[in-house]
Amino acid sequence: MNQAIPLESDTETEVDFMELDTIIEDEFGNNKENLIMILQAIQRKYNYVPQPALTYLSAKIGIPYSKIYGVATFYSTFSLEPRGRNIVSICLGTACHVRGGERVRERIQESLEISDGQTTEDQRFTLESVRCIGCCSLGPVVKINEDMHGRISSDQIDRILDQYE
Ligand code: FES
Repeated sequence: MNQAIPLESDTETEVDFMELDTIIEDEFGNNKENLIMILQAIQRKYNYVPQPALTYLSAKIGIPYSKIYGVATFYSTFSLEPRGRNIVSICLGTACHVRGGERVRERIQESLEISDGQTTEDQRFTLESVRCIGCCSLGPVVKINEDMHGRISSDQIDRILDQYE
């Protein structure tokens, strides 16, 4: 069965094509072998992968849009939806779960007034639950961007979130 592939439906983000050229040509030599790394660089730039960037990338490196879209949706690390400036990942793996990860998640949801997978209206935070991020002995663990916060309790959440603009 053919999957419907959204094309150019993302009109919220203005993509700077000169900046894309810098990534695609200067950093990765216009080389289709570097597709994953190019997508990672685009996501670092915009905090997600805007669809106009996928279309442009397709034309630039000569890979059909459907293939690039397939790669971008296959890996959970890529987001095709706009995300907040800070990504809050709450671990709900077994070790974190038994140490109160669920209570921590509820507290984050209350504080940010969003549910799992959503972004705050001011685009400050996106909340995602994840499975084991490899530091079980520190559970429950919350990762914000690249920062690990371990052995946290619900009453520390607001203080931690306040550290991120
Ligand atoms: S279960 Fe949470 S870090 Fe492993």
